[in-house]
Amino acid sequence: MTQEPRKEGYKEQREEINMFAPRLARIEITPSGISGLDRLLAGGFMKGAIILVAGNPGTGKSTLAAKFIYEGLKRGEPGIYVNFVEPRQDFYAHMESLGADFEKYEKQGLFRYVEALTIADDEALAQQLEDIIGMAMDMNAKRLVVDSVTVMLQILGKQKSRIRKLLQNFFVNGLKSLGVTSILVAEHPYGAQVVGEGVEEFVVDAVFILRTVMKRGKPLRIMEIRKVRWAPIRFSEVTFYIRPHEMIDIVLPRN
Ligand SMILES: Nc1ncnc2c1ncn2[C@@H]1O[C@H](COP(=O)(O)OP(=O)(O)OP(=O)(O)O)[C@@H](O)[C@H]1O
Ligand SMILES: [Mg+2]
Repeated sequence: MTQEPRKEGYKEQREEINMFAPRLARIEITPSGISGLDRLLAGGFMKGAIILVAGNPGTGKSTLAAKFIYEGLKRGEPGIYVNFVEPRQDFYAHMESLGADFEKYEKQGLFRYVEALTIADDEALAQQLEDIIGMAMDMNAKRLVVDSVTVMLQILGKQKSRIRKLLQNFFVNGLKSLGVTSILVAEHPYGAQVVGEGVEEFVVDAVFILRTVMKRGKPLRIMEIRKVRWAPIRFSEVTFYIRPHEMIDIVLPRN
């Protein structure tokens, strides 16, 4: 039996694989629990990743972020939802309508809701963020949401260097180094070309843009996967539904 000739470039391919292997081995992927999304992202989110979820009003940003926390709670992973927009009662009522019982996990000490509606200046914000890092350490939090980072950054005005410094300190030196995976919700005004002040996209590990379009007279929800640092992306757009119990149901194309 004759042996098949070795393909040209084989040695080079092997070397290339070996070169990347140690780097890949160091990346810890944890399932988000959002089934369509985990399949799309080769298993889930990178541990400690910072994920930006941006979109127009009503596109499902908070529902996706809450689903991410809720799936963690179901797996025993402590989570924190920091809300600069929505009072506690509104959040719990909205979640209840989607069949999610956050109160149960709050009573168990697994979940904390931080209502941050009245923060007006840099100093108060810095204190709040420090408290959140302390809370994340005490709870051994694995997941965190900031809803919305747009409102949080408005407190700092439009100075990009201050925004970068804050994002670096809180998210990268703080949460990421603790191994907390975070979703930042960003409000994306109609017609805007860049997300937020345009700086957030550069410090985050993944960017998802949510949109609602009209198809045959019916609204269709779309998630655009714009950037993912830890996984190859097979589809740049998927459709999803918001409905009770599943909260978010992502539909992958057939091939
Ligand atoms: N119980 C429910 N069942 C089905 N759909 C729901 C339910 N509750 C809310 N929705 C849908 O979810 C959408 C709002 O989702 P969500 O609050 O997550 O959006 P958002 O992008 O965070 O909005 P905003 O920019 O106003 O904060 C609404 O458009 C509504 O159609
Ligand atoms: Mg919202």
